[in-house]
Amino acid sequence: MSLIENLNKSNLPTHVAVIMDGNGRWAKKRGKMRLWGHRNGVEAVRSTIEAAAELQIGYLTLYAFSSENWDRPQEEVMGLMDLLVEAIEKETPKLLKNNIRLQAIGDTERFSEKVKNKLNNCIAETSQCTGLTVVLALSYSGQWDILQAVNSIARLSKQGEIEEVDREVFEQHLSTAGMPSPELMIRTSGEYRLSNFLLWQLAYAELYFTDVNWPDFNKEEFYKALNYYQSRERRFGKTSEQI
Ligand code: FPP
Repeated sequence: MSLIENLNKSNLPTHVAVIMDGNGRWAKKRGKMRLWGHRNGVEAVRSTIEAAAELQIGYLTLYAFSSENWDRPQEEVMGLMDLLVEAIEKETPKLLKNNIRLQAIGDTERFSEKVKNKLNNCIAETSQCTGLTVVLALSYSGQWDILQAVNSIARLSKQGEIEEVDREVFEQHLSTAGMPSPELMIRTSGEYRLSNFLLWQLAYAELYFTDVNWPDFNKEEFYKALNYYQSRERRFGKTSEQI
């Protein structure tokens, strides 16, 4: 049976989060510049979005630019920004055609006006789409997210609007408010780290690591991750017998 046929369509995750890693190494192995790796990574983004939409997965969050990525050489940062603008420009009609909504999480205020405008236009244009939601994590880190939630709660608490904080209240202040937590996190390129990605939200996620570098990731690789997810027993701290 093929990987897609083997999937139980009624037990797919509602939210998949991806750390797209290994673009630089993929390019270096081929004697090319890092940016060439990122450019080829866009094709993997396209295939993954397509696969998730076809399977009617609700949310796909992609770690496209971390808070720490600002420290990369200026040339690479600029190249990534150009790539992002180019991809958004090119893909917006396809997103609309396929009923895909775009959202972003992160400290996007740090981006240039050009990037912010493109991003916000695409978010606004696709806001009525009801199929897959693609969430771009941009200038994002899990610690940034938790801190901005704490600060927002502190402000409201000072105004007397919040008395006590429980999990539900806290989650309403995270950048992912209103989204289900990811049940599956995929990381490519053979690294076994969370790298400051969705630290709160991944509490119960199944973690899937593959040696494949991001530009080589495709639909089949995505199905492999989903097959892995379905092979896991999710216990949420309970015993097997309780489930
Ligand atoms: C990690 O590889 C990848 C990134 C920091 C950026 C990911 C960006 C893209 C795939 C292209 C643009 C995205 C969209 C959504 C259009 P790395 O550079 O850390 O690779 P390395 O670990 O091998 O150096």
